[in-house]
Amino acid sequence: MHGLFGRLQAEIEEMREQGVYKQLIHLDSPQDAVVKIAETGGEVINLCSNNYLGLCSKREVVEAGRAAYEQYGAGTSSVRFICGTFTLHRQLEEKIADFLGLESALTYVSCWNANMGLMPTFLEEEDVLISDELNHASIIDGVRMTRSNRKIYKHSDMKELEQALQGSADARNRFIITDGVFSMEGDICKLPDILELAERYDAVVAVDDSHATGVLGSTGRGTPEHYGLHGKVPIITSTLGKALGGAAGGFTAGPAELTDYLTQRSRPMLFSNALPPATAGHSLAAIDYLDSHPELIEKLRANTKYFRERLLEAGFKPIEGETPIVPIIIGETAEAIRMSKMLLDEGVFVIGFGYPVVPHGTARIRCQISAAHEIEQLDAVLAAMKKVGAKLGVV
Ligand SMILES: Cc1ncc(COP(=O)(O)O)c(C=O)c1O
Repeated sequence: MHGLFGRLQAEIEEMREQGVYKQLIHLDSPQDAVVKIAETGGEVINLCSNNYLGLCSKREVVEAGRAAYEQYGAGTSSVRFICGTFTLHRQLEEKIADFLGLESALTYVSCWNANMGLMPTFLEEEDVLISDELNHASIIDGVRMTRSNRKIYKHSDMKELEQALQGSADARNRFIITDGVFSMEGDICKLPDILELAERYDAVVAVDDSHATGVLGSTGRGTPEHYGLHGKVPIITSTLGKALGGAAGGFTAGPAELTDYLTQRSRPMLFSNALPPATAGHSLAAIDYLDSHPELIEKLRANTKYFRERLLEAGFKPIEGETPIVPIIIGETAEAIRMSKMLLDEGVFVIGFGYPVVPHGTARIRCQISAAHEIEQLDAVLAAMKKVGAKLGVV
């Protein structure tokens, strides 16, 4: 065996010894409020899926995927500019643009690709890119790939953002990028302030709304709608792999000039295949389903409120907020992983996150609430959390 693999094995052993090794859990059922663990055959309540609206297994959504598969086959078999793009992709992109109140949209196989294909494509040395320190890893990597000047501001610190804008007065273009909802904290970006600063300093704003699309706002349009700013954010990137069907896929939405330019130059667009037709088909159906079932958003909101309130009553201290991402800081990575293992034994599937996903010392259990959950299931989760929390001295 080459020395490289020996080194990797040694590092893996070290992770195991420190209790921070991530064990993949195999499921034998679709994502839903309850899932079946392959190893044990047992059913557990699922609190770690981004299946916020319960659409992953919704019949209408799955059937639409099947129909697209029948009509278009498995895929494009190459990148879109080489061997054509399906009508279905165009329909989905029009639907997304309309959903967000923006002029156009361009899909990618993931939001990871959408973010990687955004900033490096048009920001150059004479531009300045300004990014929140807690932005998602796909933004961080996109920022790293960009040749422009880069400035990172403290999480949601509007003073630092303003300083970054003031300090880049001679830039050709200033570009601010932020998560809409921060995935590890569950808090919402200060969008009205960010837009106001962008206006004052002539900057362009992009919001990655992956955890807000289908979740925030009275009709699930995301962070802009939450703040009464629907259609007012110039650029939105987001995923189709969470609330809107949950398979895969991402997009960038914004002015037609932007998506046209990305079609010409963005590397994940030029060098990677299109979204599989089945995924495009069920994503379209997911948006339609959301629009004709506004009660899903209400249920998600009610479930979230119920869970957050009962957690506080039980003595837990989740990070404050109003989104369905409910993190409870535990501290050390090994301790968060231990808690998640103990909860699994109690019939609750919830993951502990530690370094390098979150900074050292801030490991956490991240609960995610869905419209698919029933109150009895949330009560069962709360009972298990109280029991395990007491054993570990968390409450
Ligand atoms: C904020 C944010 N952006 C992007 C992504 C990546 O999304 P995708 O799975 O579509 O690549 C995620 C997924 O975790 C995310 O939370």
